[in-house]
Amino acid sequence: MELKNKVSLVTGAGQGIGEGIAKVLASNGSKVMIVDLNGDSAKKVAKEINSLFPNSAKCFEADLTDSNAIKSMIQATLSSFTKLDCICNNAAASKGLGPVENYSLEDVQATLDLTFTSLWKCLQVEIQALKEQAIPASVVNISSNSAIRGYAFNSIYAASKAAVNNLTQSVAKEVARNDIRVNAVSPGTINTPGVRQYFEAEPKAKEMLEKSSLLRRIGEPEEIGELVSFLLSDRSSFITGQVISVDGGSSIN
Ligand SMILES: NC(=O)c1ccc[n+]([C@@H]2O[C@H](COP(=O)([O-])OP(=O)(O)OC[C@H]3O[C@@H](n4cnc5c(N)ncnc54)[C@H](O)[C@@H]3O)[C@@H](O)[C@H]2O)c1
Repeated sequence: MELKNKVSLVTGAGQGIGEGIAKVLASNGSKVMIVDLNGDSAKKVAKEINSLFPNSAKCFEADLTDSNAIKSMIQATLSSFTKLDCICNNAAASKGLGPVENYSLEDVQATLDLTFTSLWKCLQVEIQALKEQAIPASVVNISSNSAIRGYAFNSIYAASKAAVNNLTQSVAKEVARNDIRVNAVSPGTINTPGVRQYFEAEPKAKEMLEKSSLLRRIGEPEEIGELVSFLLSDRSSFITGQVISVDGGSSIN
């Protein structure tokens, strides 16, 4: 139980990778605040966790592009669980796909808002709250392998994730003296609702992406959760400022 006595918050935990992360954290002994724009899916995930680990999970509906909602999310976590040790900033979304010359400025701004700026807004409020608590803490930002090698026809999302990686390292430098560690986890292709939908529309993409991994498959959300759990726990006490891929080796293939 590497997270026994810890309180964790996971954003975008109503489905997909965030849901998998929240479930792994709860299975490792943490109390978990499930945050999502979709309040119903957040409630459903919290209910599932509580059926396995009674009184472990609470949920909170928030649009993380709104700084006031982020402050309320932190307040709700502190009043539910009295403290906050571990944060996973997972929520992100991309608007617009296609060649770079076809993007509208609105799509670029929306993608930056949903993937980079909202994460920065979260970090701003989170770091302040963690410093005020003055206890050791760990933060994990969910990035993407697209940040490492680029992503054709999803270039603005990839660039936003590259900014997430760099922000992770800068903030890790700023808060190390406060005993706060900050890392990023970079998933390859993971079995999530969006990816399943994409594979239904483009069956050849499934085969291509499976082959791009050394392990010849895509990953499961819980496989991201395992590394996040380790990085949020005291077992990773000497790791900060790192961007670590969980991708079946696709980033070196
Ligand atoms: N699925 C993949 O293969 C993959 C690969 C690399 C990186 N990622 C990253 O992993 C993370 C999770 O991806 P996913 O595929 O599980 O996504 P998803 O779309 O399945 O789930 C994202 C969740 O975040 C919530 N959300 C979106 N915008 C929000 C906002 N403004 N405020 C609050 N909640 C919001 C959504 O309601 C949803 O429940 C993202 O950061 C994504 O960029 C995913």
